[in-house]
Amino acid sequence: MNAVLDALFPSIDEIPEAWRPGQPQEQREYLVDGELRQWPGALAAVRSPISLKSADGEQPLILGSTPLLDADTALSALDAAVRAYDNGRGTWPTLRVAERIQHVEQFLQRMGEQRTAVVKLLMWEIGKNLKDAEKEFDRTCDYITDTIGALKELDRRSSRFELEQGTLGQIRRAPLGVALCMGPYNYPLNETFTTLIPALIMGNTVVFKPAKFGVLLIRPLLEAFRDSFPPGVINVIYGRGHDTVSALMASGKVDVFAFIGTHKAAAELKKLHPRPHRLRAVLGLDAKNPGIVLPDVDLDNAVDEALTGALSFNGQRCTALKILFVHEQQVEAFLERLQAKLATLKAGMPWTPGVALTPLPEPGKPDYLEGLLTDACAHGARVLNEGGGQRRGAFFYPALLYPVNAAMRVYHEEQFGPIIPVVPYGDIQSVIDYVLDSDYGQQLSLFGNDPATIGRLVDTFANQVGRININAQCQRGPDTYPFNGRKNSAEGTLSVHDALRVFSIRTLVATRFNAANKQLVSEIIRNRQSNFLSTDYIF
Ligand code: G3H
Repeated sequence: MNAVLDALFPSIDEIPEAWRPGQPQEQREYLVDGELRQWPGALAAVRSPISLKSADGEQPLILGSTPLLDADTALSALDAAVRAYDNGRGTWPTLRVAERIQHVEQFLQRMGEQRTAVVKLLMWEIGKNLKDAEKEFDRTCDYITDTIGALKELDRRSSRFELEQGTLGQIRRAPLGVALCMGPYNYPLNETFTTLIPALIMGNTVVFKPAKFGVLLIRPLLEAFRDSFPPGVINVIYGRGHDTVSALMASGKVDVFAFIGTHKAAAELKKLHPRPHRLRAVLGLDAKNPGIVLPDVDLDNAVDEALTGALSFNGQRCTALKILFVHEQQVEAFLERLQAKLATLKAGMPWTPGVALTPLPEPGKPDYLEGLLTDACAHGARVLNEGGGQRRGAFFYPALLYPVNAAMRVYHEEQFGPIIPVVPYGDIQSVIDYVLDSDYGQQLSLFGNDPATIGRLVDTFANQVGRININAQCQRGPDTYPFNGRKNSAEGTLSVHDALRVFSIRTLVATRFNAANKQLVSEIIRNRQSNFLSTDYIF
C-alpha cells in the first residue's frame, strides 16, 4: 500500500498537458441584475484535494479564490430577482413558454462551449475522475434538452380548454416566484442544474449559490447566464452560507428553497423564513441506503453492484450503498469476493486512465472516516482489506469493515465516503427493523433470486423508501424516473417531468359556460390579448 500512496500524487510534469492546472484564478466577479460585478472584499481560497509533488514534499494545490460576499451584497442579488419577478408581472414570468425555451436553448448552446473548462475544474476541485466528470457535464446538457421536451409536452396539454359541470376552464402551470437554488459538492453542476433549469424555464427568477466545493467551475458559465437571460432572472452569488443564505431566507422574500445537502442545514435555513406558508421547499437530503444480500443470490452480481454502489466517486453520492446486510450463509463468500474485487480498483489522479479511487475534497473527511473506523474497531469490527483506511493527504483508501453492529457509529451515520460496513444477519426481521427505525428513507437494494422473498420484501419496503432496486445498486437515473425520499431524505420529487411541477402551481381560469362568456373568451384568444388564455402550443 505504501508504494501505491507514494506514487499517488504527481509532480507537475507528470500531469498530461491538457489537464495541467493553469495559474491560480482570482475570481472577483459575481452576477447580479444582468451584470458581472467585481467584489472588492475578502476572498476564499479554493484548495484542490490533489497535492503536487515537489522538492518540498507533497502540497495541496491552491486553484484560486472566490468572493466571500457579505449579507448586503447577497441581498442585492435577491432584490434583483424580486424586481425581475415583479410580483409575477415581470417580463420573464409573463413571457410565452416558447420564448422562455429559446432563452434556455441559447444558454445550452453557450454552455456546450465550456465543456472542457468545466470538466477540468470538476477534476481539480472535487477529484472526480475524467470519465465521471464528462458524464456529469453531458448528463446535465441532456437533462436540459429533456426538460425543454417535457415543457413542450406540458404546454401542448395545457393549451386545451376543459368543460366540467357547466364550467369552462383552462389550466396552466404558473411560476411560484423567486427561487433560491443551492447544490451539493459531489454533483456541483448536475444536481444544481436539475433544480435551477426547471425553476427558470417555468418562469421563476433565481438566486443561485454554488456548492461549498466545485465553485470555480461555475465561473466559465457566468457570461452565458448573463447573455442568455434578461437582467435579474438569474443571479449568482458566492460566500459562506452563514453570511449570505441566512440573510436571504430571513428576508422572507424567497418563495422556493431548492437545496441539496444535509437535513440539519435545510431545517436551520427553513426556520429563518418568516412566512412559512409562502415558502415551498424542494430538498434532496441525507441517506443511508442499505444493500440487502439474501441467501438465494447471484453472488457475483451482488458483489459487482455492491462495490460500485458503495464506492463510485469514493462513496460520495447521496444514493451510495452505505451499509450492507449480508445473510450469514453467504457472508464469507461475499466478503472474499468483495475484497478481491476491491483490490483491483485503481487509485490515482482523476485523469489517470481507468482510475476509480481519488482524493476527497472535504478537508476534514479523512479524519472523520478514521474516527468511524476507530470507533467500529473498538466495538469489535475489523478492517478486512489490506491497506483499508490508509491515508495520504486528502486520499483515503477504502476500508471494508466487518462485522458491523448497532453499537457502532457507522451503523447509523452517513459516512459519505469510502467505508463499506458489512452487517451479517440470520433473521431478515432485523434488517426490516433497521429500515423501519431509520431516520432516512431514500432507496435500498435487494439482491436475491427467490420470487416469493423478493415479492414480500418489495411490499414491506414500498412504504419505507422512494425506490427499491432489485439486483442493482441504488442510483438516481434515468433522470426521467422519480427521485425522492421519505423521512429526513427529501422533500418533493424530482425527475425531468416532476421538476417542472415542483417549481410551478396549477392555475385555473374558469367561467360559466354560456354564450356571453364563450364569446368573451373566444375574442381574447382570437385577438391574442392574453398569454395565459391561449390555445397556442409549441411543436
Ligand atoms: O448524490 C446524489 C445523486 O443524486 C446521485 O446520483 O445516483 O446518479 O450518482 P447518481
